[in-house]
Amino acid sequence: MLHDPKRVYVFDTTLRDGEQVPGCQLTTPEKIEIAKELEALGVDIIEAGFPISSPGDFQSVVELSKAVTEPIICALTRANKGDIDSAVAALQYAKRPRIHTGIGSSDMHIKNKFNSTREEILERAVDAVKYAKKSVEDIEFYAEDAGRADVHFLAQMVEAVIAAGATVVNIPDTNGYCLPDQYGSKIKFLKENVKNIDQAIISVHCHNDLGLATANSIAGLQNGARQIEGTINGIGERAGNTSIEEVVMILKTHQILGLHTNINTKNFYELSRMVSSQMRMPVQPNKAIVGSNAFAHSSGIHQDGFLKNRENYEIIRPEDVGFPDASIVLTARSGRHALKFHLERLGFNLSKEELSEVYHRFLVIADSKLDINDQDLLLMMVKPQMA
Ligand code: KIV
Ligand code: ZN
Repeated sequence: MLHDPKRVYVFDTTLRDGEQVPGCQLTTPEKIEIAKELEALGVDIIEAGFPISSPGDFQSVVELSKAVTEPIICALTRANKGDIDSAVAALQYAKRPRIHTGIGSSDMHIKNKFNSTREEILERAVDAVKYAKKSVEDIEFYAEDAGRADVHFLAQMVEAVIAAGATVVNIPDTNGYCLPDQYGSKIKFLKENVKNIDQAIISVHCHNDLGLATANSIAGLQNGARQIEGTINGIGERAGNTSIEEVVMILKTHQILGLHTNINTKNFYELSRMVSSQMRMPVQPNKAIVGSNAFAHSSGIHQDGFLKNRENYEIIRPEDVGFPDASIVLTARSGRHALKFHLERLGFNLSKEELSEVYHRFLVIADSKLDINDQDLLLMMVKPQMA
């Protein structure tokens, strides 16, 4: 398999890891609507569901496979034949199917979840990949809780599953435990010590329990991973998964990393709103890239600098992520420059003295309101006594 060494593949799991969140469940038509937008966004892989988990999830994978043809369609399984058979059946219409199978890799999971041994787990991992490979060519293996796994055992596992036919090896930080340099070192170790590693793509799948999912994903990419797994808006179990929009915009902003994706970043904002409303999961206003305040400037110092040259306070252009535009929010912390900007926009061109007088009136109003809109400004200018 020949890959552009600088190309990062984007694996979206909004419809699987994201949809596992209580209250975020979607109907099949809703999933198809989101999947079509993910296809337009340019994601390389859509994880469509976990077919054995319920008849509804099985059917969603079937219907999604028919409706979406450009990205690879992936189905999750545990490392057993029943799960794999179900995934194979659900993927029967997929143009480019992938099975995502795996098992715990940390001693914590091996002992306390599987009541097993490293040897037995290794055997189950290899058997699952070999079994899945009989039906589907593209097999991704996940080493669950790899973030806390012994790196030597992890390397042994990765080598064995690649030898068994895995095309992608997913190294999940399932519990969002790692620090970025720990996670990055783990990926580097695998890159340098697994002798058949060049026959597979390393994938990063991080959770956000310590707020480090994006940082850890980037550390993984800097150390040789070439697939990133995440969700739109970072939705997912507990504190969520890596936000795809964050990782993609980091790669775009820091071109020095020399990595690129196939993502149409202008689609981010609209898709973020669609996922939020379909999944009934509001986006926090200060969310990076897609939050409603991500391009809003509200303090006097920032507004003044922004109005002189927007690059003083803008490292991403709002239009690059499909955001309507940057905004200068008028509050009691705004300065004269911001007020002048909005008044001119409304057709009022004031002298310095007039602006000073109006600014004092504005502050009185702003102190009694959370923010000031055009209506307030017009009232203040036209009927000063009523504003
Ligand atoms: O977080 C995780 O380990 C997972 C796997 C099932 C890939 O979601
Ligand atoms: Zn996960």
